[in-house]
Amino acid sequence: MEIQNKTVLLTGASRGIGLYIAKTLANAGAVLIGLARSEDGLNATKAEIENEGGTFHTLSFDLNNISGLSELVEQATAINGEIDILVNNAGIERYSKYQNYSADEVRDVLNVNLRAPLELSRLLLPTMLERGGHIVTVASLAGKKGMAYNTPYSASKAGLIMWTDGMRQELRGTKVSISVICPGYISDTGMFHDSHVDPPALLGTSKPQAVADAVLKAIKNNSAEIIVNNGPMKPLLALGQISPTFGDALVRKFGVSEVSKKRIK
Ligand SMILES: NC(=O)c1ccc[n+]([C@@H]2O[C@H](COP(=O)([O-])OP(=O)(O)OC[C@H]3O[C@@H](n4cnc5c(N)ncnc54)[C@H](OP(=O)(O)O)[C@@H]3O)[C@@H](O)[C@H]2O)c1
Repeated sequence: MEIQNKTVLLTGASRGIGLYIAKTLANAGAVLIGLARSEDGLNATKAEIENEGGTFHTLSFDLNNISGLSELVEQATAINGEIDILVNNAGIERYSKYQNYSADEVRDVLNVNLRAPLELSRLLLPTMLERGGHIVTVASLAGKKGMAYNTPYSASKAGLIMWTDGMRQELRGTKVSISVICPGYISDTGMFHDSHVDPPALLGTSKPQAVADAVLKAIKNNSAEIIVNNGPMKPLLALGQISPTFGDALVRKFGVSEVSKKRIK
């Protein structure tokens, strides 16, 4: 899909990777509608984008409010007409031993990360099927291999990956295409950077611009799935599929669980 003059609804646009995605799509000529809770954060993104000659509208909304999404979509379409591209980028993570999570924490992670993207897509799809459209979701490598002490997040991201996988098959032959992006640890900004924990030495980090570039590429080329990580991740993931316990051993060797344990508050 061409991006010039398309209207993009981007969640998680107030900071982190969302800022890079917003700038990248605005530079490609899209009209951005950025959603997040923080009005200050959205206004900061707006200022950066307008400074570079782009267009960015703000929509302050809490994605925990699943039943309010229908009205939110009406508000979004009133800004610049129908939405051509949905980028589900907003996400949260909470680190804990599973039995120590509150029920509300688990609910919030599943709401923001999984239910909100599915509901936004459900609401936008009828119009997209008529006019054409693209849905891109930012999942995580934590949805490809479970992550200890961050398991509701892993569950939500695995859900996004499998939902996209099924939807891609369901949407085949229609005017709507769908992609999922799976980043590993991201440097410079975002939830991992903000934790001030060192990444596993063998895995390293990728730049946030690499995620934004992957989103752009996915829309332009109709990519099914893009992994954003240094090194050959796909063969390791395939090995983990063949033998989950061998996958566990690899994750231990890389020190992923140790890094996650440090992030328990
Ligand atoms: N950073 C990484 O290393 C990494 C790795 C793999 C995948 N990812 C994924 O990349 C995406 C972006 O992550 P990030 O690192 O940029 O995270 P971040 O810096 O924590 O930003 C998260 C974004 O989501 C928004 N958000 C959070 N809760 C929300 C809610 N209830 N309602 C509406 N918006 C909400 C935040 O805005 P407000 O707080 O203003 O609402 C913010 O704009 C996420 O889906 C994340 O899972 C990140």
